[in-house]
Amino acid sequence: MKTLIKNGTILSSDSEIKADILVEGEKIVAIGQDLNDDVDKIIDATGKYVFPGGIDQHTHFEALTNTGDKDTAGYETTKALIVGGTTTIIDYAPQDPGCGLIESAKYRIEKRAKGKTCVDFGLHSLITEVNDKMFDEIKELPKHGINSIKAFMAYIGSPLHVDDGTLYKVLSESKKVGLTTFVHAENGEIIDMLQKDCVKAGHTSPKYHAVSRPPIVETEATRRALYYAEELDAPIFIVHVTTKGATDAIAEAKAKKVRAYGETCTQYLTTTKDVLSDPDFNEAAKYVCSPALRDQDDVDAMWDALNDNTLSAIVSDHCGIDLHEMKQVGRNNFVDIPNGAPGAADRINMIWTNGVAKNRITRQKFVEVCSTFPAKINGMYPKKGVIAVGSDADIVVFDPEYRGVVRLEDNPNGIDYNIYEGREQIGRPEVVLLRGKVVLEDAKFVGELGQGKFIPCEPYAYCYEGRK
Ligand code: URP
Ligand code: ZN
Ligand code: ZN
Ligand code: ZN
Repeated sequence: MKTLIKNGTILSSDSEIKADILVEGEKIVAIGQDLNDDVDKIIDATGKYVFPGGIDQHTHFEALTNTGDKDTAGYETTKALIVGGTTTIIDYAPQDPGCGLIESAKYRIEKRAKGKTCVDFGLHSLITEVNDKMFDEIKELPKHGINSIKAFMAYIGSPLHVDDGTLYKVLSESKKVGLTTFVHAENGEIIDMLQKDCVKAGHTSPKYHAVSRPPIVETEATRRALYYAEELDAPIFIVHVTTKGATDAIAEAKAKKVRAYGETCTQYLTTTKDVLSDPDFNEAAKYVCSPALRDQDDVDAMWDALNDNTLSAIVSDHCGIDLHEMKQVGRNNFVDIPNGAPGAADRINMIWTNGVAKNRITRQKFVEVCSTFPAKINGMYPKKGVIAVGSDADIVVFDPEYRGVVRLEDNPNGIDYNIYEGREQIGRPEVVLLRGKVVLEDAKFVGELGQGKFIPCEPYAYCYEGRK
């Protein structure tokens, strides 16, 4: 199968050019002016931007995380991501109870994602049980296509929480085998104390989710984790950053040559904590995610940190937690509201609308933080994350002239709400190719369940460059 994409403006993380793209099989085989070949399909991209498929390096499909005993939305719901211009995810693979890191990841690939996922996927391991076997398995992860591991400093009292000794050892063991340690940096002890104080005072509505997780808990934990990484000379990636204090800490660490990186999420760039004060529990509970949403000055600081290269990626932290069942658990006490919000399907459109179209970031920065950098740090570059000869033909043809409003019914995400419902949308993906196959046409999904495949993440990726 040969496809020619004609007359588009191709975006990369450092340039844009008007050129044609020839795709053969799963790969891009030529890029140039006025390409002509005997092809099966021609896509006219006149007036459109053409960029590498979105890579969302922080999602939680079918992940119990802290949601109790019901799973978050299934891999079949990744169909909505294709409609939203994302072709690859790096999903979290928590240790299933009583299972090791590797068995849990294998089970996820074979029994959960296979036959269902519509996007390609890699995995981050995620610690939920600390024991000797877990540390032994860290050494084996690269052989199984995993190049990162996540540790949670938050969520005291849940299996997710790791103590500082464990975090320190994970950083040190991961470095030995070329992994990157991803850290959820919030001070769990202080949150636990503040939550108890809120509840004691009768403050149980969703608004107190943010009150009990003030910026200091994130900023302090970020500084502490970065200090360990500095001492150990280990790479570290701070996930879902939301505070100016945390970005200052990352910038300072970078200045000291610590291999420190960070990401923020679409919601922390587009939404302030005011939504948590809605008197309607159902409205407020949708936005209970951790870290908590912040004030506008922190929102502005996240855009600044992307522009000065302190932060390197924008992710969704997608959690398909439904409102009418799962979120209700916390109706009488915000502490019990399962944390997390969906957003993987809307990330590209919301970042284009609120970032590129509002001149907060350039088109090049958009490509870098939504696709290219995630491919690099996760050891998928240049197979993914770039439009180049030899790369996978994961391609979005994007219509910048489209104007609309986000509606859940237009792109169902598998649960009963969309946190961007009613928001203005500027531009949308018209055509999407996944490894050379057209899976979105006229903005309609034309792919099939199970079309996505597991992509191994190479160890000694970006943060080890020149240091192997
Ligand atoms: O609230 C969130 N973010 N839930 C998902 C788990 C995590 O902390 O990433
Ligand atoms: Zn602790
Ligand atoms: Zn987290
Ligand atoms: Zn997460």
